[in-house]
Amino acid sequence: MKKTVGTIRVLLCAAMLTASCGNNEGTNTATTTDTMQNNTKAGVTQADWGEADGKKVMLYTLTNARGVQVKITNYGGTITSWVTPDKSGALSSIVLGFDKLQGYLDKPPYFGALVGRYGNRIANATFTLNGTAYKLAANNGKNALHGGNKGFDKVVWTATPATDGTPALTLNYLSKDGEEGYPGNLNVTVKYTLSDDNELGIEYTAQTDKATPVNLTNHSYFNLTGDVSNTILEHSLMIDADRYTPVDTTLIPTGKLQPVAGTPFDFRQPHKIGERINNVPGGYDHNFVLNDTGTSLKRIVTLSDSSSGRRMEVYTTEPGVQFYTGNFLDGSIKTSDGKPINKHAALCLETQHFPDSPNQPQFPTTILQPGATYHSVTKYKVSVD
Ligand code: BGC
Repeated sequence: MKKTVGTIRVLLCAAMLTASCGNNEGTNTATTTDTMQNNTKAGVTQADWGEADGKKVMLYTLTNARGVQVKITNYGGTITSWVTPDKSGALSSIVLGFDKLQGYLDKPPYFGALVGRYGNRIANATFTLNGTAYKLAANNGKNALHGGNKGFDKVVWTATPATDGTPALTLNYLSKDGEEGYPGNLNVTVKYTLSDDNELGIEYTAQTDKATPVNLTNHSYFNLTGDVSNTILEHSLMIDADRYTPVDTTLIPTGKLQPVAGTPFDFRQPHKIGERINNVPGGYDHNFVLNDTGTSLKRIVTLSDSSSGRRMEVYTTEPGVQFYTGNFLDGSIKTSDGKPINKHAALCLETQHFPDSPNQPQFPTTILQPGATYHSVTKYKVSVD
C-alpha cells in the first residue's frame, strides 16, 4: 500500500527546473509517467517493496519543493532512481536502478547501494590490527571487496523517514562483532537529504566497541543522458586531484601516490572520458588522491553531458574518490524495461578513503577506535546548463 503525504498537484515543468524547461510535450521518457503519478508535496512517501531476510523492505520517495524525486530502499540503503529534467525538460533517471526488489536480490554489482563495512579492496582478504590477524571473505579473486559476501548493500536497514516535510531518510544498521570477519559491533547511521536545489546529501556516522577499519560509500552508477543505450564516454569530467593511486593487476594500490600530469588520469582540466580511456588497460577503476586534504566539504568533481545539458558536482569530506567506468558491465544485466546494461553504460564516483588502507600504513587511516565517531559527508548536486 502506498501512503501519500499529500496530493496537491505539482506543475513539474515549471517547478523542477533550475534552467529553462522548453516545449517538450511528448518527449518525456518512460520514467516521467511514474513521477507525474506521484505528484506529492515535498517530503517522503513510502511503499511496501517486498521482503528480504524475513524483514519488510520499503521503497521511499523523497520529493523536493521543485518536484524532483529520489527513490531509496532500505534494502542495502540503495538509491534506485533519481529523476531529473534535461535541458529540454524531459525527465529521466540519471542512476542505474530497478523498479522491483528482485533486481537487487539478483545481486547486481552494487547498483546505488551503501557499501561497507569497508568499501573497495583489502589485499589478500586480510589485515592485522593491534597484533591480531583478521581473515575476510576473498570475494574478488584473492582480495576482499566492498564488505564481503554479505556487505551493507545486501542487508535490510532500519529506516526512519523525516516527518516534518523534509525530503530526508535516516537509515540505521548494526553490524555485529565478527560479521564478515570484521571486529567490533559497528553501529552505522546514514542520512540521505534531497535539497530544493537538487543536491543529494549523504551523511555517514558510525561508532564501534572495538577498533575496526571503516570505509563507507555509496555505489551509484551515473549516466547523465538518462538512457543506458548511451555510454558515458562523451561525458566530460574534471577531478581535483594531482595524484592517483596506481594499482597492480588485481586492482590493489602499489602504495605509490603517482602524479597525474602527463597521464590519462589528468582530469584537472575537463576531458571527455572516452578521450584517453583506451590508454588505461581495462578502463578507469582507480582511486584519485584529492588535493584538499582537510576534512571540510569541498567540491572535487564536475561531470557534464552536453547532449542532455545535465551537470553534476560532487562534494565530499573524504580524501579520495574511486572513478570507475563500468568496465565489468557486459550487457547481461537488463534495466527494468529490458535494455542491456553494457560496458561503460554508467560510471561511479565513490568517495572514500584509499583502497587497502588497513595494509598500507602510509595512507590516511581508516581505523575507527571505540569512543570515536566516524563522520563523512558526500553531496551530489545536479543542475542543467
Ligand atoms: C570497483 C570495481 C568493481 C565495482 C563493482 C568498484 O568500486 O572499483 O572494480 O567492479 O565496484 O563491484
